[in-house]
Amino acid sequence: MKKYIIGNWKTVLSPKQSEKLAIALGKKFKQKIKTGREVVICPSYLDIANVASIIKPTKINLGAQGFFSGNYQAITGSVSVLALKELGCKYVILGHSEARLAYKLDDMQINHQIRLAAEQGLIPILCIGEDQETRASNQKEMFIKNQLVKGLTNIRLRDNDKLIIAYEPIWAISPNGPAQLDEITRMHTLIRRLLLEILPANRLNKNVAIVYGGSVDANNIKEIMGSAAVDGVLIGKASTDFDSFSSIINY
Ligand code: PGA
Repeated sequence: MKKYIIGNWKTVLSPKQSEKLAIALGKKFKQKIKTGREVVICPSYLDIANVASIIKPTKINLGAQGFFSGNYQAITGSVSVLALKELGCKYVILGHSEARLAYKLDDMQINHQIRLAAEQGLIPILCIGEDQETRASNQKEMFIKNQLVKGLTNIRLRDNDKLIIAYEPIWAISPNGPAQLDEITRMHTLIRRLLLEILPANRLNKNVAIVYGGSVDANNIKEIMGSAAVDGVLIGKASTDFDSFSSIINY
């Protein structure tokens, strides 16, 4: 299984800054990314088209941070999955805790988006993860199970379909994290066990990756990737700086 290194630029960079970073990364990773690594950058909506053309000739893949249209109908102020596909997005982050909160998205809406993304051949990155209160209670397993079961309702993975689950505990998103390695490993193992109740085992092993997100940076990347339960990372802040993201890609 490939190791995923996914940069989530959120709304941190201006169009000019995104362009500058994409050019620098594209130059550095035009040909050479260590084997077995899949690098993805997810710029803000406004910057996707520009970044897409910059990284097209490179080894870096394009992702989006979501989309908000429903069943392909026209919605003012929205972003459509068809537009993301046309621009060459291969991945799309769905269910990020910030988007769940800002857009009041529930698990059923996120499930709908995952199905639309899969229908269009985009690889969904489903974000799940508990807040500090749930972590401290004995409801953590139930909470994660609920997010997985509802988020993945009626998802059928065909032979070449891929799905990424990002375990992103809300309490570990920077500047608060990261989670300790033993907790990350424990939670990824739990997620794998829960996924076995939802998806056939052969699909789980071949088509599904479980990545960790929450304060991953150049200093902790090696340790986190060292866990056999971790198939990759989803990185916010540290992916918006050339030196730190380059070090992470080359860890
Ligand atoms: P962070 O963000 O790396 O800045 O903690 C991760 C995320 O929210 O995807």
